[in-house]
Amino acid sequence: MSPLWQQKDLREFCKAKGIHITAYSPLGSRGAKWGDSDSLEYKVLEEIAKAKGKTVAQVSLRWLYEQRVSFVPKSFNKDRMKQNLEIFDWSLTEEELNEISKLPQRRGVLPSMIMEPSDLVREIEAEI
Ligand SMILES: NC(=O)c1ccc[n+]([C@@H]2O[C@H](COP(=O)([O-])OP(=O)(O)OC[C@H]3O[C@@H](n4cnc5c(N)ncnc54)[C@H](OP(=O)(O)O)[C@@H]3O)[C@@H](O)[C@H]2O)c1
Repeated sequence: MSPLWQQKDLREFCKAKGIHITAYSPLGSRGAKWGDSDSLEYKVLEEIAKAKGKTVAQVSLRWLYEQRVSFVPKSFNKDRMKQNLEIFDWSLTEEELNEISKLPQRRGVLPSMIMEPSDLVREIEAEI
């Protein structure tokens, strides 16, 4: 889950059932590089980040925090780890939250990224 894959239906379902969500790939990781800096979605997040003197990663993590989910960001870099922790003493405005809620959605992790081809065949067979 991330601003680019907000999982609104799943969140509503979990809320109704009292299930807590933990977001993996909270920075919208796709392979080695997270996000796509040329995309419109990224530009919207970048504008918000610039206006607040934060980074796109911080805006994404703050958005998750404000959705009351927990999240598991990954970094091998000490400065980015620190940056990812500095999201608790500021907040997104209603307008910013509204802009983020309108971002086009794309699945962060495709089944093919985490499954063997044989698992996919079983998935397809199960759906038929
Ligand atoms: N259970 C599952 O099926 C499942 C599936 C996917 C992922 N996960 C877990 O979820 C966690 C995160 O997954 P993920 O690696 O896919 O996604 P992620 O946390 O969304 O993204 C990690 C990527 O973002 C970069 N990054 C981190 N902080 C940054 C920042 N402040 N600014 C710019 N770039 C930043 C990292 O690079 P650097 O290291 O260079 O900073 C890395 O390339 C991991 O613990 C993973 O094991 C679980």
